[in-house]
Amino acid sequence: MKSNLTYLKKHELFKELDNFKDSQFFAIVDYNVRNHLPQFILFSPHIFWLHHPEEEKNLDTYARATEFFLTQGITRTSTLYAIGGGATTDFAGFVAATILRGVKWIAVPTTLLAMIDGSIGGKVAINTPQGKNLLGSFYLPKDVYISGDFLSSLPKIEEMSGKGEILKYGFLSKTIHDLILNRASLETIAIECAKFKTEVVERDFYEKGQRIHLNLGHTLGHAFEFMLKIPHGQGVAMGMKYLFQLLGMTDALSKWEELATALDLPIDQLDLKHFPNFDIAEFVKFLEQDKKKQDHNLRLVLVKEVGVCYVEEVPMKEFKSKILCHESFIS
Ligand SMILES: NC(=O)c1ccc[n+]([C@@H]2O[C@H](COP(=O)([O-])OP(=O)(O)OC[C@H]3O[C@@H](n4cnc5c(N)ncnc54)[C@H](O)[C@@H]3O)[C@@H](O)[C@H]2O)c1
Repeated sequence: MKSNLTYLKKHELFKELDNFKDSQFFAIVDYNVRNHLPQFILFSPHIFWLHHPEEEKNLDTYARATEFFLTQGITRTSTLYAIGGGATTDFAGFVAATILRGVKWIAVPTTLLAMIDGSIGGKVAINTPQGKNLLGSFYLPKDVYISGDFLSSLPKIEEMSGKGEILKYGFLSKTIHDLILNRASLETIAIECAKFKTEVVERDFYEKGQRIHLNLGHTLGHAFEFMLKIPHGQGVAMGMKYLFQLLGMTDALSKWEELATALDLPIDQLDLKHFPNFDIAEFVKFLEQDKKKQDHNLRLVLVKEVGVCYVEEVPMKEFKSKILCHESFIS
């Protein structure tokens, strides 16, 4: 099982989508990318717009979106397009997975993070009051169209988020590591990351093996993201750094700094000193509720060398005491 990845310029993409002009073009679209879109999309009656995608990635909006498409005449042979960042592709993928027991969907990611991660791999979900992504499914898009042209309007903070995830890929793949250090263009690196994830997912769709490695930095990362209210990729970059510090992995830590510098990431903003209100007790509490926790153990992805990762189960109690007395967390 695999999505087709296509890399193209924006005008080529819209030419491709224009084929739908005379039929029903069903889409869920992030309102923030409207300035990139051609008239036929802007004025299509079958578009469900998301104005604040992350806040709207919930059951209420799901009910409104499904009612909208059913009223608009969506059928089992229709295709649903998702145009936007990761929140939009997660949401649209979840609608596609469930409406009429599943219709085909195509992702057009418009943030760096969605191009390299969110739109790839078929994890689709919405948030509930109990937490993020708690209602979801595995449902691959048929195609993912990647156009770096969308990045021209991306706010710096969202670019930093994407780069945080790219940093992770720099540990998972030697090819991506070398592209980063050779300062290849962001679009070239993004395409390589998307290819890499697609291949991993093809080998391990349900995350029973190597796909778990894609969670490098995510255990601490999710906790940072939640506690510090920072974008996902920034949390992941911090998650890796603090994991390496806690476990005394000095080689991985120097590699982290080398990659972060080559990506022009603002290293000072990836440090807890930047967040004076950080609450260590709340942080540990969040980790204890981690959904990837197995009984009383945390499943951590660790790095042996670039391109070689492994999973280690660490007792939560042990990990908690490490955090509570480690200088990088308490100073
Ligand atoms: N399914 C997965 O495997 C997976 C992986 C990682 C993250 N995610 C999910 O993805 C989401 C995060 O994705 P994201 O960082 O793309 O966030 P997002 O979709 O919320 O987009 C971030 C912001 O950028 C705006 N935006 C989107 N494209 C733009 C553009 N081209 N120009 C200007 N602004 C633009 C959006 O409107 C939003 O305000 C989270 O909901 C997370 O749970 C899913």
